[in-house]
Amino acid sequence: MSILRLGVLGSGSGSNMQSILDAISAGRLPAMVACVISDVPDARILERARLHGVPGCYLDPAPFKTKLDGEAERRVIETLRRHGVNTVVLAGYMRIVKGGLLRAFPQRVLNIHPALLPAFPGLHAWEQALAYGVKVVGCTVHLVDEGTDTGPILVQRTVPVLPGDTPAALHARIQEQEHEAYPEALRLLAADRLRVTGRRVEILPA
Ligand code: GRF
Repeated sequence: MSILRLGVLGSGSGSNMQSILDAISAGRLPAMVACVISDVPDARILERARLHGVPGCYLDPAPFKTKLDGEAERRVIETLRRHGVNTVVLAGYMRIVKGGLLRAFPQRVLNIHPALLPAFPGLHAWEQALAYGVKVVGCTVHLVDEGTDTGPILVQRTVPVLPGDTPAALHARIQEQEHEAYPEALRLLAADRLRVTGRRVEILPA
């Protein structure tokens, strides 16, 4: 068992980070959030960090619109290192993460996606799922690799699609499961119970 020093990257509300902070406070996750970095200056995730006394900062992603690269990526890596981060948690981070960050934290960058990968990668996954007419959706915590939402799957949870579901209602139900799944995946990582071979992940018994 090791204590994870988490660096959280997020662009939005930060409800997943909140679930991680809550799991830590409740003694359910041996970790600390060492820093929070956002590419959106007024993102609620930064406000949540402030309320919890966690160092948080906005790092300008310019000149890129959809990826973290170049000087912006170097600043993010430097900030994570300065805070002694050993595990990077993407929590609603709306950018494609490139090789530089992945090489700086090999097999230690995690993401959460609001669908049962490999179905519905990319943006607005719950809307894609609803439009497609699937009966079951869910969420996936995975290691990040060079692709988009393609890395080895650590934890998945399912959610039923209900009659009359709206995109917002479905996303809210998926998020309830996300808030269990992310702390669970991090608990397994902290306990060294994940064996990754290629893209297959074995969960070792406790
Ligand atoms: C989540 O639905 C997550 O799956 C997706 O972005 C959303 C972030 O929500 N990647 P929050 O900022 O954690 O509330």
